[in-house]
Amino acid sequence: MTRPITIRTLNERRAAGEPFSCLTAYDATMATLAGNAGIEVLLIGDSLGMVLQGHASTLPVTLEDMVYHTRCVARAETPSLIMADLPFMTNITPSRTMEAAGQLMQAGAHMIKLEGEAWLAETVTALTQRGVPVCVHMGLTPQSVHALSGYRVQGRDTQQGDAMLKAARTLEQAGAGIILLECVPRELAGRIRAALSVPVIGIGAGPDVDGQILVMHDMLGATTGQPPRFVKDFMTESGSIEGAFRAYHEAVRTRSFPAPEHCF
Ligand code: KIV
Repeated sequence: MTRPITIRTLNERRAAGEPFSCLTAYDATMATLAGNAGIEVLLIGDSLGMVLQGHASTLPVTLEDMVYHTRCVARAETPSLIMADLPFMTNITPSRTMEAAGQLMQAGAHMIKLEGEAWLAETVTALTQRGVPVCVHMGLTPQSVHALSGYRVQGRDTQQGDAMLKAARTLEQAGAGIILLECVPRELAGRIRAALSVPVIGIGAGPDVDGQILVMHDMLGATTGQPPRFVKDFMTESGSIEGAFRAYHEAVRTRSFPAPEHCF
């Protein structure tokens, strides 16, 4: 097996200007295939509530669900870095978050991801001080779908964009090792990336960031209903699952994905 991908590897990629690919994974087989294809980061996303469990949102996903799927992915033979999502309402207090993060790390995660803004700073510091690397998911945060009145692009006006940039800086200072931006205008994502020194991963955030992530079912052309604008189906042209993973990894590496039609 090739050398394991670590947070240091991702920082080196950022410094060298070499984009890295990330993909959601929920089981050992797919995680092994994705790792074989070179995908650097596997996220056990709470999107599993929608793509595996058939819910209309990620809100019903439990910590037990996340621990189960993290264990499955962690059994894969893969050099990829394994990141696991903290599900809805596990971030209500720093101590609740630390307990939940502890369970995900013991299940095999190398890093945890949580959704929020600058108010998470204290929690981020508490986690990193205890040896838990943290990725903060900003912009369109699906656990807040009702508060946001739907799955909408965030940070479209200058005031909102400036506030997001300021929050990203606060979270970096608090210890966040990665910032993930979902559905934000390309220009704003580029500004946030330039203002930080940690890697920035985007989904629907354009090409001017350090890494790209997609939900596995979407990039395999298995979206039920209309796929979001930022999705590309890599399966149709590749003809096999591993071929699709390789095509995605290569498209991210060479910056041919995301193309202008995938950006806001
Ligand atoms: O849960 C998930 O799959 C995610 C991605 C959309 C980044 O958070």
